[in-house]
Amino acid sequence: MSELTVIVLAAGGGTRMKSKTPKVLHTLAGRSMVGHVLTAVRDTGAARVVAVVGHGREQVGPHIAELMPEAVIAVQEEQLGTGHAVRVALEAAGLDTSTGAGTVLVAYADTPLLQGESLRALAADHEASGCAATILTGRVANPFGYGRILRDATGAVAAIVEEKDATDEQRAITEINSGILAFDARFLADVLPKIGNDNAKGEYYLTDAVALARDAGLEVGAYVLDDVMQTEGANDRAQLAALGRELNARILTRWMRDGVTVMDPATTWIEADVELAPDVTILPGVQLLGATKVDEDAVIGPDCTLKDCEIGAGARVVRAHGELAVIGPKADVGPFSYLRPGARLGEGGKIGAFVEVKNSEIGAGAKVPHLSYVGDATIGEGSNIGAGTIFANYDGVKKHRTTIGTHVKSGSNVTFVAPVDVGDGAGTGAGAVVRQDVPPGGLALSAGPQRVIESWAQAKRAGTPQAAAAEAATEAAADGTSDEREATHTPDPGVGDPRGGARES
Ligand code: UD1
Ligand code: CA
Repeated sequence: MSELTVIVLAAGGGTRMKSKTPKVLHTLAGRSMVGHVLTAVRDTGAARVVAVVGHGREQVGPHIAELMPEAVIAVQEEQLGTGHAVRVALEAAGLDTSTGAGTVLVAYADTPLLQGESLRALAADHEASGCAATILTGRVANPFGYGRILRDATGAVAAIVEEKDATDEQRAITEINSGILAFDARFLADVLPKIGNDNAKGEYYLTDAVALARDAGLEVGAYVLDDVMQTEGANDRAQLAALGRELNARILTRWMRDGVTVMDPATTWIEADVELAPDVTILPGVQLLGATKVDEDAVIGPDCTLKDCEIGAGARVVRAHGELAVIGPKADVGPFSYLRPGARLGEGGKIGAFVEVKNSEIGAGAKVPHLSYVGDATIGEGSNIGAGTIFANYDGVKKHRTTIGTHVKSGSNVTFVAPVDVGDGAGTGAGAVVRQDVPPGGLALSAGPQRVIESWAQAKRAGTPQAAAAEAATEAAADGTSDEREATHTPDPGVGDPRGGARES
């Protein structure tokens, strides 16, 4: 292939978006529209890329520069038409066409389904034919708004006529200009100054280059793309959503072909930069966003949103919301878990129901099964954190860390007041407020001994069902029909059972 230059037109207004955000910066599948186009352009291996910006250029220019630092950004001060835009691009590129400078492809920045493969095929077809220009065309049921392809008696391309300039007969033509064209660079440089603006829109139409080529005795080719959706633009938010759904469907199909099970494609959303291994299973209602990576045999869903997360092999994640979290192999998360940035769960570990984790490491095999907040903590391997545990990391001014050793068993309803260290093999009693370090193997208790005021209900709640129940039980005990009283008054569960009823499931 000869040297390739790609021009991406991104100067248009996009007023139908009704947005303070320029049209080409609106996103689908986790990327801006222009970001998708640049991905396709990068795939052509082009020697030179020029992006033409105008409307919203203070936002669009830096965005393109970030995604593709090597791209030349050309500013089109006034949007005088696609022909004018390409002229601005060629000037900015400083392309020397005197010796013939290969092929120039023109594409638009608002066609997010475009694939690099299609651009490469167009360039290859164009170069093989030796035509002055080759149009990427499509056949559509409703050609309204598009430039129509006029062919002569021999079937050769003669011209492109724009919707507003077309006769009724021409408007009936269903072969359309996708907007993507390939040009011989020298021909393009010669023809651009010859394009006028005497037409319905008063614009310099790039498409007039076709008839001018024919007038000069040169040939113009047409490369028909069957998958016309690749060249469809989104002009308003309804079209953006429609293209977004189509792009998602294409991404899902690709993953299914690569060995991923997607139970319900209609409710599954996977963004363009997500990576999945074979034999991953995705259940209904799942959104995998950003740079999320899922390793083989993991099962995600139902109902999860994971953004920029890493999920290890064989992990199970159910009804969870996660961002910038790492879930180890064979780990178990959910249902109803909230994993905030910096949450890291080791191999075989568990983050259970109604547990929030932030900036914390939970070691291999360690478990936080129920109703807890884990913030700024390190929990060693094999430790079990009791139900309702709070890692109090914030003193109102600063955040502090808690370190829990390995194989620690903490009771239910414990508060770790950071900064505090709990040694390996240590434990805490139910309801403890742990403010001081606990040595390895130690048991921390802070709940006071239990006190019982006998017959309190009868004295203070007389006449209530509570008092009546107490009365009846007391009478029954006096009659010697029950000896349960002793058993129900364990002196101090916090001391008697260090785990205080913490479940270990
Ligand atoms: C254009 C084509 C038409 C084709 C259709 C496909 C021309 C004259 N017509 O029509 O044949 O069927 O696209 O969608 O080329 N732009 C600039 N600077 C400008 C003008 C446009 O950067 O001065 C950009 C716009 O941002 C847009 C693209 O070029 O991305 C197309 O411009 P637009 O005005 O939408 O052309 P259409 O009328 O759709
Ligand atoms: Ca358009």
